[in-house]
Amino acid sequence: MPDLSGKVAIVTGAGRGIGREHALALARAGAKVLVNDLGGSLGGEGADAAPAEQVVEEIRALGGEAAADNENVADFAGAERMVQHAIDALGGLDILVCNAGILRDRMLVNMDEAEWDAVINVHLKGHFAPTRHAAAHWRERSKAGDPVRARVICTSSPSGVFGNVGQANYGAAKAGIAAFTQIAAQELGRYGVTANCLAPNARTRMTEQAFGEIPPPDEGFDPMDPGNMAPVVVALCADEAQGITGQCFFVYGGAVNVLQGWSPGELFVRDARWDADELLAELQERFPSGVSPAGMVAGMMSAGGQSLSATS
Ligand SMILES: NC(=O)c1ccc[n+]([C@@H]2O[C@H](COP(=O)([O-])OP(=O)(O)OC[C@H]3O[C@@H](n4cnc5c(N)ncnc54)[C@H](O)[C@@H]3O)[C@@H](O)[C@H]2O)c1
Repeated sequence: MPDLSGKVAIVTGAGRGIGREHALALARAGAKVLVNDLGGSLGGEGADAAPAEQVVEEIRALGGEAAADNENVADFAGAERMVQHAIDALGGLDILVCNAGILRDRMLVNMDEAEWDAVINVHLKGHFAPTRHAAAHWRERSKAGDPVRARVICTSSPSGVFGNVGQANYGAAKAGIAAFTQIAAQELGRYGVTANCLAPNARTRMTEQAFGEIPPPDEGFDPMDPGNMAPVVVALCADEAQGITGQCFFVYGGAVNVLQGWSPGELFVRDARWDADELLAELQERFPSGVSPAGMVAGMMSAGGQSLSATS
């Protein structure tokens, strides 16, 4: 395992599920961890300090160093307090894993404004706000001549990169996070910061809500174990991964696929502005059977994963 001793990490939404596994794995690799979790329901209602505190206890039981934080990642000032909390309580900041998330699935035609706003806010602003404040800290250190080797790990989703029915709010936020990662990578590289994102797949309360119960196999490797995501995070946090940035890692069990999104496709080109009639004729010729998205399951299969529904 890469040695992360001496590094300080924040993992948001680390009180449960995938984030908890990231926090435990980073601690096992030697990092000190600020375990952030608001502790609300899957839909983002309420708050509870217990999940973050429990994970802190688990890390201490492993012999690691950790502190609990209950800020809301979508609160701009709260995210600034969280970054400062890591610096004050654990002595610095080297790694930011943005993982916190909620779900309010609904078909587009029935989705209400609150369902849209809540999901966009927690995921998209919940990535921007912590990254913004962490980046300011790293820029300051970099300008002071401190050699920074910092990491931002974002959390996208197969729903965002492949597009899942019933998740217009969540998928739009997760596609935005993939784009945010690429832009953060390009802007923050000059300060010694890499930015990558995961498109994870794991058994948590989130998949239970979206796909029903997915029981583990009776024996052998469990591809849906949320701990399967953590080695990707630990590897990307190693100093040796300094050159790997702006990538989106689809992870399903033992399959890790470095995705290529929105790569060039069918080119229609001429030396003048297109006439709509002529363009339409070209489109019909190039796509005689029409053209439409293959959907999330097809995307997951092509990336080395499986349908979560078929797994259950
Ligand atoms: N489980 C999967 O297969 C899967 C697939 C794709 C993406 N993801 C993403 O992985 C991440 C982790 O999800 P999970 O499946 O472990 O779900 P989870 O519900 O088990 O964990 C999410 C955690 O985030 C916390 N949280 C929610 N809103 C918060 C806020 N505003 N501030 C701080 N903490 C907050 C929750 O309290 C919870 O503990 C999410 O971003 C999710 O969208 C998961």
